[in-house]
Amino acid sequence: MKGAQGSTEDGNAHEAPLRAVDGPYPHSDESRGLHRPLELGHGAAQAEVVFDMNGEELILVTGATGFLGKRLVRELLERQPQARLALLIRDQAGQAGKERADAFIPAGDRLRVQVFSGDVSRPACGLDAETYGRLQGEMTRVVHSAATVRFDHSLDEARRINVEGTRHILDFVGGARQLRNFAYVGTAYVAGERSGLVGEDELEAGQTYRNTYEQTKAEAEALVRARLGSIPGVILRPSIIVGDSRTGATSSFKMMYWPLKIYARRLWRTVPGYPDAVLDIVPVDFVASAVARLLFEEAAQGTSVHLCAGPGGSATIDQIARRAMQYFNGPEPRYVDPRFFFAVLRPLLFMALWGRKRRVLRDGRAYRDYFTMRMQFDTSNAERLLKPAGITPPPVLEYLDRLFHYCVASEWGRKPVSGS
Ligand SMILES: NC(=O)c1ccc[n+]([C@@H]2O[C@H](COP(=O)([O-])OP(=O)(O)OC[C@H]3O[C@@H](n4cnc5c(N)ncnc54)[C@H](OP(=O)(O)O)[C@@H]3O)[C@@H](O)[C@H]2O)c1
Repeated sequence: MKGAQGSTEDGNAHEAPLRAVDGPYPHSDESRGLHRPLELGHGAAQAEVVFDMNGEELILVTGATGFLGKRLVRELLERQPQARLALLIRDQAGQAGKERADAFIPAGDRLRVQVFSGDVSRPACGLDAETYGRLQGEMTRVVHSAATVRFDHSLDEARRINVEGTRHILDFVGGARQLRNFAYVGTAYVAGERSGLVGEDELEAGQTYRNTYEQTKAEAEALVRARLGSIPGVILRPSIIVGDSRTGATSSFKMMYWPLKIYARRLWRTVPGYPDAVLDIVPVDFVASAVARLLFEEAAQGTSVHLCAGPGGSATIDQIARRAMQYFNGPEPRYVDPRFFFAVLRPLLFMALWGRKRRVLRDGRAYRDYFTMRMQFDTSNAERLLKPAGITPPPVLEYLDRLFHYCVASEWGRKPVSGS
């Protein structure tokens, strides 16, 4: 499954290059003589006029404002100093996409970043026809990372963004005349409530899902799989993404951070989970490096890759809890069967408690089923593709203290931390 390549230059017509939306991200391709048209043998049957990228890259990224997306954009700018980036960003709270990008695109990189206001859940991703067509003519690689990661969305709402959004992107990418690779960011938790070792190639195994997020990401991945015969692409499935392995920095305090915060604040020391349940977490720097690398890796095309700690690197709930006990100098954690906790204890506690403790109980409901998992993710394909490039996830227990440290230093996300 390779993209449209093997073009021959004819050097005749000229077409204006893509414009940044209302600045401040101008780009200088005219001066570099890009976009000369080519005759392209796209699927041999038809010859189309496309724009010569002179071997250069225009990488479209969705989800750039997200926890992973921001880090990924940074990684792509660093790893691909010649590439231009096109970011599709939603307008939000009175701010246009490009204003939102100002907050995280370094000033020195803005000449090669174009920002387009769009919304993947809308037809044509919310782009006007001209922009849509021009991007299809110029983009060479695409990372689709935009999704709703909320566990409490209705099925309709989650489908609108995760499934229909992916369908719109696939249609968009399917017409990209110079596409070299498409990277879809899925999740390892499309495995739902399975147990045992989950293979990277597996999707449907009769599993049930914990929430609409898992279900709709599985539906979206099925759409991507069905198109991988005609689109050069790769499916990337991270497990639970946590802070940077070197600095601990994170902008997302969900999932594992929930019981941790309760414990660190001495609100609670009862874990509604199994001590031997496995928590597969991966630091955001590893995931961003892996995505940036695999976007340029032909050997990955047509495959699915677990970006996970895997059986060798993940940790049990008890191992993590004990490390937290040492770090926070806290009491011995207690475990309670989650079925008993949520069916009997929680309703009683809910009546008896108020204030902070009550809010904590309510907030944690979404994560309760993640502390009982006896599922592991096989990472053979990931190792084959990433190990030679020196990209491997550090074992969870190696960097946990740095995550804890950042939580404390940032007061659980309320305070900026210098150098992160
Ligand atoms: N975080 C994890 O633990 C984890 C684990 C496995 C896989 N993943 C996958 O990684 C990807 C990124 O997750 P994340 O943790 O970075 O999530 P996040 O912080 O919530 O970011 C989601 C991104 O998607 C964008 N988005 C959502 N709906 C959109 C729409 N309709 N149109 C355009 N953009 C839209 C958001 O834009 P706004 O800023 O406008 O909201 C944001 O940039 C997702 O595909 C997720 O499934 C995440």
